[in-house]
Amino acid sequence: MSGFHYGGDYNPEQWPAEVWREDVELMNRAGVNLVSVGIFSWARIEPRDGEFDFAWLDEVIDLLHAGGVRVDLATATASPPPWLAVKHPEMLPVTAQGVTLWPGSRQAYCPSSPVYRRYAARLVSAIVERYADHPALELWHVNNEYGCHVSHCYCDVSAAAFRTWLEAKYGTVEALNDAWGTAFWSQHYDGFDEVFPPRAAPTFQNPTQLLDFDRFSSDELRACYRAEADIIRSRSTVPITTNFMGFFKPADYWAWAQEVDIVSDDSYPDPADPLSPTYAAMQRDLMRSLGGGKPWLLMEQSPGAVNWRERNAAKTPGQMRAWSYQSIGRGADGILFFQWRQAVAGAEKFHAGMVPHGGTDTRIFREVEQLGTELRELSGEDGLLGQPVPAQVAIVFDWDSWWAIEQKASPTAIQYLAGVFAWYRGLAAAGVTVDFVQPTGDLAGYRVVVVPSLFVASDEQLDALDAYASQGGTLIVGYLTGILDKNLHVRTGGYLGTLQQTLGVWVEEFAPPAAPDLAALGGGEPPAVRVRGEAVGGEASASLWSEYVRVETASVAAVFDGGALDGHAAVTRHARGDGTAWYVATQLDDGPLGALLEGVLASARVDRLPVVAGVEFVRRGRILVAINHSEDAVTIDVPGTDVLTGASASGLRLGAQGVALVAEA
Ligand code: GAL
Repeated sequence: MSGFHYGGDYNPEQWPAEVWREDVELMNRAGVNLVSVGIFSWARIEPRDGEFDFAWLDEVIDLLHAGGVRVDLATATASPPPWLAVKHPEMLPVTAQGVTLWPGSRQAYCPSSPVYRRYAARLVSAIVERYADHPALELWHVNNEYGCHVSHCYCDVSAAAFRTWLEAKYGTVEALNDAWGTAFWSQHYDGFDEVFPPRAAPTFQNPTQLLDFDRFSSDELRACYRAEADIIRSRSTVPITTNFMGFFKPADYWAWAQEVDIVSDDSYPDPADPLSPTYAAMQRDLMRSLGGGKPWLLMEQSPGAVNWRERNAAKTPGQMRAWSYQSIGRGADGILFFQWRQAVAGAEKFHAGMVPHGGTDTRIFREVEQLGTELRELSGEDGLLGQPVPAQVAIVFDWDSWWAIEQKASPTAIQYLAGVFAWYRGLAAAGVTVDFVQPTGDLAGYRVVVVPSLFVASDEQLDALDAYASQGGTLIVGYLTGILDKNLHVRTGGYLGTLQQTLGVWVEEFAPPAAPDLAALGGGEPPAVRVRGEAVGGEASASLWSEYVRVETASVAAVFDGGALDGHAAVTRHARGDGTAWYVATQLDDGPLGALLEGVLASARVDRLPVVAGVEFVRRGRILVAINHSEDAVTIDVPGTDVLTGASASGLRLGAQGVALVAEA
């Protein structure tokens, strides 16, 4: 396709055939050129074991094709039909508490179940056989949101699969005993057959068992994906995706991203949360980064309110459009929704649709139509479609650390994502676009690399961070980094492992404040820690964490202010090889974190985007995208022309949720 993809999930099986024709007409009117079909159609395609009914789907896909709408065809395996559970109840998932999850909802399958996988494979083969050569086919959509509801299964089938996975990893049970540290609490195993998934237990479970189970669970879901993708690849060259869910803890998307032809993402920021635009920006930057900078697809967003929060705020006028351009600015080549036509039955009937219950004479449909028209008119020549998004700063993101640091047996209650988001917010406020990276990724091209709480790190990862700094980079390392190896064994001799040489400090003792205020990470609450020093803007606030840092060859840039750590280093700076390595031993609040970043970004000569309160700027290709997320009109002043309106962007007024795509002069 030569333009932006535009469309949504299309569930024709929920509607009589007369509606399908109107759907295609309305899709044309709305500028829709791609729809995802069949995501929850298993029971309709295969109403009885081995009996396939494709007549209705043939008709739907032919109608779409005749109307010029391309198809993102699902493999339909996301929600097994009730007959499969009746025939094979052993394929149902079981929680850690031993509760079986029954049909009547969706996603009721155990990812490790050979029965589920066998039936899924047969279904996928039948679908692929039938539609691989259909001219409407644009993309394959494997399953749906793997792990969304059932990411970990604790049934006996999963237990057996976990044992197989462990045996492949460790070879011998003694190696497992070493890795898991089972000398503790009489946990020693005499054979793999004694090992269970971490089912509900009296108290703290073995941390390495928990981490391995997280790794295993992500791998099992990925094996389901791979099995389906392999069937498709054996018969079709059409690209394959499966929809991710942003920062989704149960699935290590670095591994997953290797297996999809195009990254796609589902994103539902809460319109009632003022931090949503920034959080959503961070999610989009992750999606671009997962694909190594390649264009990605926004596979699902809501045209209005969702139905699954405690309170489901509507999007304000223009907000859907503004957030869509945010995705485009951050590398998306397509904007799709859940879902095309708002349902009248089922659990999602109060979830907004592109065609609402009220029909086409509605604000939502008009906004859908307007965006579709605009995207149709924006061609590749405008300099957005397919273009890269340059970034000079990277944040290290790591699923092992996320899983491990949030275990109960950690030094204090930490929310990994909140720590990452604090750095992201600071960088966004400073006018900096961020990529996400793995520690062993290609860091050399970045002027600054930030490492928030890389709690679990291999020697290789620590060496890679050191090499980055030594070769001239500016490295910022956050607290609780380099504490554990990949088996979750402590790196002794003072914390930080080999990063001690990189940073010129070591950490002697953790001293989290007595009443850490997790809410403070979002701003607003009084801080529990204070720091002082020019690097953080004088006397400043921090929260959540402090520790006793022993300074060797670093210089101290800020100290703790008051309390038992008064006068001890809180922020340090160290010359390492040709570069610089900072260590930050607390969770700085937004103000001091911003002050620290100002200094670091200036000395690392990081290019900055314009900064206007309430306005997000991001550069893609030769376009500077400006989005006013505030409630008030703002004025931007950029030399160039808004390609949407042809207006000059010098002194351009943007109303609430206003967007300008500025071709810079
Ligand atoms: C997604 C899912 C869709 C729909 C949507 C509602 O998680 O993929 O099928 O349920 O949420 O917001």
